[in-house]
This record gives sequence, C-alpha cells and structure tokens, in this order.
Amino acid sequence: MRTETPPLIRLEEYRPSDYLIDRVDLDIRLDPHATRIDATLALRPNPAGRAGAPLHLDGDDLRLVSVALDGAALAADAYTATPSGFGLHAPPGQPFSLRLVTEIDPTANTKLMGLYRSNGVYCTQCEADGFRRITYFLDRPDVMAVYTTRIEADRAEAPVLLGNGNLVESGSAGTDRHFAIWHDPHPKPAYLFALVGGRLGQVETRFTTMEGRAVTCAVYVEPGKEDRAGYALDAVIRSMRWDETAFGRPYDLDAFNVVAVSDFNMGAMENKGLNIFNDKYVLASPETATDGDYAAIEAIIAHEYFHNWSGNRVTCRDWFQLCLKEGLTVFRDQEFSSDMRSRPVHRIAEVRSLRARQFPEDAGPLRHPVRPRAYAEINNFYTATVYDKGAEIVRMLRTLIGADAFRAGMDRYFADNDGRAATVEDFLAAFAAVTGRDLSAFARWYERPGTPRLTATMAYDPAASRCTLRFTQSLPGEGGRDTPPLVIPVALGLVGAAGPLSGATCPDVRDGIFVLDRAEAEIVFDGVTEEPVPSLMRDFSAPVRLDLALTDAQRMRLLAQDSDPFNRWQAAQDVALRLILEPDPARAYAFAEALGRFLDSEALSDPAFAALVLALPSEGEAADALLSDVDPDAIHRARFALRAHLGQVLRPRLERLDAALAAADDAAYSPDAASAGRRSLRNAALDLIAAGDPETGASRAADRLARATNMTDRLAALGILALIPGQAREEALAGFAERFADEPLVLDKWFAIQAQIPEPGTLDRIARLKAHPAFTMTNPNRVRAVVGSFAFGNPTQFARADGAGFSLVADTVAALDSANPQVAARLLTAFGSWRRLEKSRAAKAGEMLNRIKAIPGLSRDSADIVARTLG
Ligand code: PHE
Ligand code: ZN
Repeated sequence: MRTETPPLIRLEEYRPSDYLIDRVDLDIRLDPHATRIDATLALRPNPAGRAGAPLHLDGDDLRLVSVALDGAALAADAYTATPSGFGLHAPPGQPFSLRLVTEIDPTANTKLMGLYRSNGVYCTQCEADGFRRITYFLDRPDVMAVYTTRIEADRAEAPVLLGNGNLVESGSAGTDRHFAIWHDPHPKPAYLFALVGGRLGQVETRFTTMEGRAVTCAVYVEPGKEDRAGYALDAVIRSMRWDETAFGRPYDLDAFNVVAVSDFNMGAMENKGLNIFNDKYVLASPETATDGDYAAIEAIIAHEYFHNWSGNRVTCRDWFQLCLKEGLTVFRDQEFSSDMRSRPVHRIAEVRSLRARQFPEDAGPLRHPVRPRAYAEINNFYTATVYDKGAEIVRMLRTLIGADAFRAGMDRYFADNDGRAATVEDFLAAFAAVTGRDLSAFARWYERPGTPRLTATMAYDPAASRCTLRFTQSLPGEGGRDTPPLVIPVALGLVGAAGPLSGATCPDVRDGIFVLDRAEAEIVFDGVTEEPVPSLMRDFSAPVRLDLALTDAQRMRLLAQDSDPFNRWQAAQDVALRLILEPDPARAYAFAEALGRFLDSEALSDPAFAALVLALPSEGEAADALLSDVDPDAIHRARFALRAHLGQVLRPRLERLDAALAAADDAAYSPDAASAGRRSLRNAALDLIAAGDPETGASRAADRLARATNMTDRLAALGILALIPGQAREEALAGFAERFADEPLVLDKWFAIQAQIPEPGTLDRIARLKAHPAFTMTNPNRVRAVVGSFAFGNPTQFARADGAGFSLVADTVAALDSANPQVAARLLTAFGSWRRLEKSRAAKAGEMLNRIKAIPGLSRDSADIVARTLG
C-alpha cells in the first residue's frame, strides 16, 4: 500500500450548505471511556442551497447509538451511518429536528482533536474540524447555530464544568454526579464549541465593559498552580480594556474563562467565552518563566480574546478565508503588545519572526498565497504565511489609507458582518466603502505567493540639489511584465551626515510614504543639499526583500542618524549579514567600532533596542539570503567568528554596560518591558563576551547562573554555557534538571537548549533526552522541545552531511504520525528548505522524504506535507 497524494478542496468549488442548523441542544455525559453525546439539531433547508438534496453530516471516528427524526425513530433504510458520516436520504422539506446519540472514548483520543483528556481533564479542540469527532454535524464555519450544552460528570472526577456562553443552571445529578448547563446566545460555527471538565484551580476577577456589563473573568489551571495564573488574568483585563479603546469592541457575555491544559497541539484556541490554552502560554512565575514567556503569554491571551470580534462575532465563510480572522487578529495582538511595550522593539521582533518563519516558507515548496486556493488538509494551513504575512497585509492597508480611515473601515466591517461568516472580499469592501477607493489592485497581496523583491537605486545631482530614486518590483517565479504589480507602500526618507534631511521634498511622497503600484517607478526629491543615504522600507512598511546597494559606511550612517528605529537596527543587520556571507576582517573591525560608538551613546537609554542591535542575524536568516548551495557549517563558522570578533573588540564596553545595568538589577523581578530590556542587554553582552573569550565566558555564565533570581537570567546563562563544551556545561545542565525535575514546562527549556547545541554529539544527547523520565511522545510540548528545537533550531546538526539529523526527525515523524498526525506533519515542515542545501545534503533529505512518503497508512496531514515538499 502506497500513500496517495490526498485530493484537493478548492475555493472555486465553494457552494452554500444545502441545510442550516439554527439550534443545537447537547447533553454530554462525561466518562473516561464511554462519553455519551445526545445532540438535538434544529435543521432547515437552506434557501441558498439545492432543494430536496440528501442531508450529509460530517463525522470522524464516531459510533452512532441512536437516531430520531422529529421525535420518531428512523427506519434502517432511511439513513446511513459510518464512523465518518451520517446520511439522511430524504430529509423533510421544512424545518425538522434530528436527535443523534453518539458515544466516544476521550481517553483513547491521542490526536487531541475533538473531546480528549489532558492529565485527566476533559477538554475539547474543534478548530478546524474536530466537532465532527464529537457528534455528526454540518462541520463548516458558514453553518452557525445557538448552542445549549448540558454537561454531566462524576463530581469527584470533574468538579469544574465549563461551556460556551453563560452558566444557566447547575446542580446534582444523583449521588456521585453533577451537571452544569451553559447557553451561548451568539450563533457560532461548530469550530468554536468547547467544554471542559476536571479538577482545576482558578483565579478570577471582575471587569465592567464600556456598555456596563459585569463580566466575571477567570483563569483555570492545574490545582496548586493558581499563583502562576495571575499574569494571564491581568493580560485578559488589559486586553478587554484595549479592545474597547483601540477598536470600540466590548465583550458580550457574562463570563470569560481561560483554561490551561498541558496536552495541546497549538498555542491556544478562541472558543466562544471559553478559551483553551496550551499551559505554556498561561503559567508564569519569575522562577519558571522568562521575559519572553511573559511577553508571549500577554500576546496570546490578547490574540485569543481579540478573536471574540475578529473571528467569532465575524467568522469565516470557509477555511480559505482563514487569514480573515488570523491575519487580522495577529495584527491586533501586535498593536496591543506595541502599546503595552516598546513599539519599535516589538516591531523588530515581529519582523525577525516573519523573516525566520514566513520568508523561508514563501521561498520553498510549501509556499502558498495568504488566501490559499486549494488544500488537501486544512490543518496544514495554519501557517506563518496565513498568520504573519496576513497581518502584514492588514498593516499595509492601514499605512495606505491612514489610521483614521482604517479605524472607520474596521467599524464598518464589524457592523456589516456581525453574526455573519465573511470573506476577504467583505473585509476589503468595508475599507473601500469608507474611503471610496478601489482596492482591487491591493487585493493581489492575498493571491500572490512569494516574497516580492524591491530593487532600489539612487542617483544624486549636487548641482541641481536633486536626488532620484528608482524602484523595480518583481515576484520570484513569476516573470515578465504581464504579471500585474503589487501595491507596495514604501515608507522612506533621506538621511544626511547629521540626520534626516527635512528640506528635501518630493511630490510623490505623502506623509513619508511613496506608494509603488507599478512594476517600475522613479521619484525625484528636490532641495537635497548634500548627498544623502536613502532610508527605505522604514518600519518594514511591506513584507518584501529590499535590494539596495549601500556601503558599510552608508549603513552605519543610518544606524547613527536615521530617525526610524527599525531602519537603524536593519542597517546593522545588513552589515552583519554581509560579513557572515563574505567574511572580511577589516570591515568586521570597522563594524565593531561603529557598534561601539552606538553602545557608548545610547545603550543605557534604550537597553532593549541595543540588545537587538547586538544580536546578529540568525544562521537561518543567512541561509535564507542564499538562494542555493547552502552549507550550514560554513554559515555557522562565519557567524561564530563574527560574534567572537565583536566580543573581543567590544569587551571593555560590554563589561562597563554589564556593570552599569547590574546596579539597576537589585530590585525584585518584574516582567515589565523596561526591566526585561535591561536583562536582555546584560545577557546579550555576556553572550558576546563569551563568544570572544570562552574561558571567561564560561566562568561568568556559571556565576550568573548561580546568582540568578529569575528564569530569564538563569536560562540565558545556561544557553551561553551550553555553547562552551566542557565540565562546567555538563554540571550546569545536571544542576538545572535536578532543580526543576517536577516542572515539565521548565524542563522543555532544558530540552530545547540541548537539542540546539551545534555539535555532532547532540544526536546522542537527544537519544538520552528522549529516555529522560519527563519526556513523552504523547505530549506535543515535549516533542517540540526536543525534536522540534532540533529540526528548526539546529541547522548544522539537522542538516548533517551524513543524513543522521534528517533521519532522527524522520524517525520521530514515523513514530508519531498515526497517534498525532497534526504534530507529526508540523515537524515535517522542517524539510521545507531542503532543495536549497548543497547537493549532497539535499540528496540525503530527499531520500528521507521518500522514506516517509512510503510509510503505509501515512496520515493525510503528513502525506500532504511530504507530497508538496517533494514537489
Ligand atoms: N485559532 C487558533 C488561534 O490562532 C489556532 C488553532 C488552530 C488552535 C487550530 C487549535 C487548532 O488562535
Ligand atoms: Zn488566531
């Protein structure tokens, strides 16, 4: 048996459902192995569908216990029921009710889709199509119903029972059992259904909305971990307040619950009124969470909360429109975090992550438009392209029409589409309506895969005090002049020796933006009194690759003088990237000196920004800059050498900075952005010092580890030590494991650090980690910490010339695929850039992909990724 390439579902084949479901009444009796779901569906023919069509309900792994139509039992030949579907051959022509009783085994559910148990807690995950693993249903987002859910369970096993919406009743159901009834008045698609039952502790507080509604907000966690739930709860409240001020969006139920579970395929889920989270994005204490964890918790809490409007009140017509909720909601959470923290620092973080994940995706075999036109398995389209490039499109729209028109367009979008399942066209129509603009050319961003290249050149005429900028845009893989151009907002300025040239004017630039909507364009600045350095794509105004040939000296002028913090950082990155790709000692020294001057003048006034300037482009980014023949070892060596050089040249300054920042570090730990920024600069300084002088580095890192009062410093020190082979490293790792032996989320950090050690011995180390008592293949976080960190974060060892790294990941995929196809398929995407590797490595990767492809019974998830990756 050979795995077939799975069939495709296409956007152009969308048609409305033949039936609609207005109400769903559920009576769910939780039981570890035999949970009963008694579902009554109020159905009716859809006027927009085909009259008299048979009814087909989706199912996945279901067992039908009984069925009744309008209260009467059905004849055996009136319907068909299999584990994967229910068919009613001749449905009534008017509204009717269908009562379906199914039985499922939540304990045996290893896919973590549908109803399953995590550490004994019953929970659900229904996006994208998990509801059909609970009962037969029209499991598509354009079928929206009002749900009432009665949950019954053993009181000792599940004292807490949560559902969507508002709690309407609860009480006892016999001696050992109890129940709760939840009603959600807002019609919703099945993917937003959720329930939770288990022993959980909680923290809660009240929030009064702008409309005067009193909301009880609670965060539920494993009992005993309540003291780690406070930060998430605070983030909920800040998110609620922010969505009111920034977008005028109030919350719309009496309860908002967040539940942390330890087995979860993704980050978190926006179920109506009952967000379910991977516990890694809820639990935080100074002893167990880093500054980065706090920031991620804040962002993801906000993200899921913001979905209440962008996703739930206005949902997606079909899964091709996924970016409609995800891109928009990422944009909203990015804006929230920027308001809570430093906007420029956050923007840099956003772009780093876009370049690390989305650019390679868009340049490889898994590339797809932000709105895909076809898919075999929708779970494989929760991608960096849909999420992060999707967010960049929304950001460009705001840049193009301005903040006020953007806000008006958002209001219009929510008003026109509230309670509806919408499309990207509906979204753009709202902005077209409020601005009177034609956005059809802009809409091409949703259709075109690939990262556009923007080439720019400058000519300066001193006699005329005139400067000419010439732009050309092109999309890789799409040649020729017939491809209609994209609309690219180019935020720009001209920078003189002493700063931005304010006297320069150009009729094509408004509010600092030139809109490039042709394949090529030339713009002219007058009043340019000295030869400037162009500062282009300020604040990363569009998701493009910019080609602009500047000298190191010109780039260092931008670092020192530009008014745009993003481009100041970018200038240093550009110089560093070239030095990694083409090492040059003299230029490296000049770069180090320039960084030194930068540090002297402003490191202490903005430590977080300075830490980002000191962080070199990653090995992945260097690989991504090369189109072919990537040798990860060569990149690693060059990057390492540059770090060592910077560490040596800058050492006295780095030590002074460290000492100055140490003084501010005495206060109790606080996760706020300013404190986190000081810690990040101290740790960046130590990292470079260690690169330049490993012996000193090892002893300082060991010292920092010993004195650390919080996980941020502890983990940074451990990470630095992990790169320096020797006894100190092994002792530090052992000490850490012992100290946090009962903390799986902390051990994940320990797993990840070791899986990323760029040494041949890491393969054996991983074999030992997999044998560690805390490791289990059934927990996605553990698998990602060990194997995911290796596959995505250890380029030299994953792409070892002997193929052993590929093989390790392939073995894990093979072992995991049938139990949890989603997580297996996600790991497989690590092979996405295989064709860009140098020939012998690429050949090994290709062999491995073919081996996976040949696995009998390979899941649709993995088969889809393998087929597309092999192309
Ligand atoms: N919709 C979730 C989010 O972005 C992600 C998710 C998708 C979670 C599918 C689980 C399953 O917030
Ligand atoms: Zn989302």
